[in-house]
Amino acid sequence: MTTSNTVWHDAAVTKQHRAAHKAQIPCIIWFTGLSGSGKSTVANALEQRLADLSQHTYLLDGDNVRQGLNKDLGFSDQDRIENIRRIGETAKLFVDAGLIVITAFISPFKAERRMVRQLVEAGEFIEVYMGTPLSTCEQRDPKGLYKKARAGEIRNFTGIDSDYEAPEHPDVVLDTSSMSVDCCVDHILDHLIQRGILTAVSARARMKAGNNSGGCNKAEADPANKTAGSGKPSERAG
Ligand code: ADX
Repeated sequence: MTTSNTVWHDAAVTKQHRAAHKAQIPCIIWFTGLSGSGKSTVANALEQRLADLSQHTYLLDGDNVRQGLNKDLGFSDQDRIENIRRIGETAKLFVDAGLIVITAFISPFKAERRMVRQLVEAGEFIEVYMGTPLSTCEQRDPKGLYKKARAGEIRNFTGIDSDYEAPEHPDVVLDTSSMSVDCCVDHILDHLIQRGILTAVSARARMKAGNNSGGCNKAEADPANKTAGSGKPSERAG
């Protein structure tokens, strides 16, 4: 493993050119949270909404990437670190291509999430924490993995016998035990508008949000309010 004797070549077509062709501001929207917290579901709904707004996106999802690029990796701390390193580098390339990259990985450790934030330019990394409680994730258990982990059939399962370090200062906090998927997407879109990442399309984004069944009410907007919202994740809950 060495980087010696290599020289970086700057491409004539820059990130700015590529982004300008797409009339958008590239960034990484990085979901982190327990298995079953709703990462994949919300990430997928977000990508759909951004696509409706003619934004060019790419979704990198833990289960999918682990079937290809990272199929040689397991769930030891070391392998998870390498998993996130590769995803971070991949996401950086896609940002360089001018895309809005959405990632849905448990990404349990603060240090690696910080490492990815530092890989890209200031403001290009948006951390979305799925703060859905472990009890809810375990109750949902969409893949039956919590049950296996409790039975000792799977080792190093996040939240059971492997650590999850919650972010201290996430950009967006969501909780699918109290917020509907549409509400979660609205929160992220609001954040993108606030940061100036969605600008020209913001009015249309809001219109679309308003058209969604139920939309996002005030009670749902408070993740501490566990009684509000449909909170019904799909079977894709990740
Ligand atoms: S990460 O910790 O390295 O970021 P990643 O998001 O890629 O994890 O993969 C998590 C997915 O792998 C889970 O949603 C689950 O379907 C599956 N999985 C299998 N074994 C484990 C395990 N020991 N811990 C967590 N997830 C696991």
